Amino acid sequence: MTDNSSISAILQKGAEVFREQPSARLDSEILLAHVLSIPRTKLYTDSSALVTKPQEQKYMEHLEKRLKGVPIPYITGFAEFWSLPIIVTEDVLIPRPETELLVEIAKQLSGLFQKTHTVADAGTGSGAIAAAYAIENPSAKVVATDTSTAALTVAKRNFNTLNINRIELVCDDWLNAICNNSLDMIITNPPYVDIHDTHLMSPSTSFEPTAALYAQNKGMSEIHKLIQVGNQCLKPGGFLLIEHGFAQKKRVVRSFLENNFVNISTRQDLAGLDRVTYGQKICIDT
Ligand SMILES: C[S@@+](CC[C@H](N)C(=O)[O-])C[C@H]1O[C@@H](n2cnc3c(N)ncnc32)[C@H](O)[C@@H]1O
Repeated sequence: MTDNSSISAILQKGAEVFREQPSARLDSEILLAHVLSIPRTKLYTDSSALVTKPQEQKYMEHLEKRLKGVPIPYITGFAEFWSLPIIVTEDVLIPRPETELLVEIAKQLSGLFQKTHTVADAGTGSGAIAAAYAIENPSAKVVATDTSTAALTVAKRNFNTLNINRIELVCDDWLNAICNNSLDMIITNPPYVDIHDTHLMSPSTSFEPTAALYAQNKGMSEIHKLIQVGNQCLKPGGFLLIEHGFAQKKRVVRSFLENNFVNISTRQDLAGLDRVTYGQKICIDT
């Protein structure tokens, strides 16, 4: 005789703990599947399988964290980006689906370079962008920078776990340590939320690092710096791709123009919002 409960009974208990929470069922399923180390579909095909008491206790701890607003990836330790399992801790931003647009554009532009080109992911955080780009372009040399040594540790864990050994990690204020005229492309998702708009962000962002989200000057301070330093580090004809807020397009384009970039273009995310602007460093003979 065992007093262990079945998967379906535990899920029922989880639903009661969550009660009216939006996404309660989905969240409880993801967390139970994580504790049991099984795919979510197995919760239904094996619904009468028993859950041990330590597993049940772990699950209840996870539910409590979720009730306090902790985002699921910080509980499970993983987020999916570009179909890759990315390790996350509270030292890094949780990679967002809209950021995949940066990788998509970078992948398209990479066709213009020689196979062995050099790309920087400025402000790499978890390393999600650098990892996705390196996997798509096996011959590219990738440099990933961040000011946060804790974030660089997480990025290193990701590159090791994903078996990518071609990414150089650099603790740097954006790209200050990178040689002039050395990069074919810079990809960046900098902090761009207006520091005075903290109240507009969802409660879950309060668990994410402030330095990853907020910037001065209506969210534009880091974007301006990146466009200036990007202009120095890029080879003539190289591309700078920047993710930004949906209302920042005009200011980003102006900053690109003020720094003599050409072929400037903005792309929308799946929600139809202006999300990525990119431009090309002018060639001497352009
Ligand atoms: C919005 S997060 C992006 C993280 C990751 N690239 C992504 O897309 O999920 C911005 C990142 O830039 C880093 N950062 C902020 N200021 C920086 C600076 N001056 N130089 C380098 N990195 C910086 C933060 O630590 C954070 O990891």
